[in-house]
Amino acid sequence: MRYSRIAATGSYVPERVLTNFDLEKMIDTSDEWILTRTGISERRLSRDDEDTSDLAERASREAMEAMGIAPEDLDLIMVATITPTMPLPSTACFLQDKLQARRAAAFDIAAACSGFIYGLSIADSFIRTGTYHTILLVGSEALSKIVDWTDRNTCVLFGDGAGAVIIAPTEGESRIISTHLYSNGSYWDLLMQPGGGSRYPISPEIIEKNLHKIKMMSGNEVFKIATRAMEDAAISALKHNGLEPSDVDLLIAHQANHRIIRAVAQRLRLPEKNVFSNIAKCGNTSAASIPIALDEAVRSGRVKEGDLLLLAAFGAGLTWGSAVIRW
Ligand code: UT7
Repeated sequence: MRYSRIAATGSYVPERVLTNFDLEKMIDTSDEWILTRTGISERRLSRDDEDTSDLAERASREAMEAMGIAPEDLDLIMVATITPTMPLPSTACFLQDKLQARRAAAFDIAAACSGFIYGLSIADSFIRTGTYHTILLVGSEALSKIVDWTDRNTCVLFGDGAGAVIIAPTEGESRIISTHLYSNGSYWDLLMQPGGGSRYPISPEIIEKNLHKIKMMSGNEVFKIATRAMEDAAISALKHNGLEPSDVDLLIAHQANHRIIRAVAQRLRLPEKNVFSNIAKCGNTSAASIPIALDEAVRSGRVKEGDLLLLAAFGAGLTWGSAVIRW
């Protein structure tokens, strides 16, 4: 039986650090509020001349180096992002060009913060069916470029960065065991970037109203739905595979809020040592958050061969999902 596995990981976060103390000078907020409500101390910001495909390239090259493959070995490139380099063409095509991955098909995934789990599911299916052999999946975001830096409800939350994985076939035990995807479009207006699409095309009026920036209508409602959705997705994934929470060696959840991550961990009765978090340093990097965290966990030795990983994500759409992986 042909399965898929994550054969290598890589990540990149920009050099520029924006701390909570820096934000105190920009808006009416405090380090204490941000830290206690979200767990975030600082986040990374891309340079003016650095876009989502640049971040993706750095993470991708690291993953390819870890696996010892060349860009020509890639069959497919997927980039999960809500901050594409341009609305058209896809960021995956920019990345294909930057890498000179001439054989690879390329497209973007628009599933917001759940984009990496969606991509994992697509890659797993393509590999199981034999359609593709070597797939590069990147979550990459330059959220600082669509954040409204005058809106304290959102600007303290987000950061920039990219995480990449290479997914390849296997017949062994180390593999992607399952993925579960969910969405509920009736909540589309909770978290959005209203301007710049076909409903509100870019115009001086849209820009004047700041509609081309991220809006979160009720952070608290998003918080409650996110917590319940990730808990349910995680539990369904374990049940589907006949696994118990005690089988989980590491939970890597979307890094949106440390209180959400803690709530999911508590519902699963997972001790802190089995929960990965880098939100303090990175903030919420949307589609990049899980692959950046995964790469950090792998490189720091938190993930060892044979470990059972549970991934859970949640984001605008609303979208959410989970994945179970034997490393
Ligand atoms: O990645 C996609 C999914 N996104 C999420 O999952 C985000 C989910 N939501 C959250 O993480 C939390 O709801 C937030 C961190 C956004 C907000 O935390 P909260 O505990 O839900 O606070 P709240 O929205 O209920 O706001 C409490 C108060 C409000 O003041 P009043 O109305 O009580 O006077 C806000 O105006 O905190 C105020 N506030 C702030 N104060 C200082 C909101 N933002 C800030 C801020 N600094 N940056």
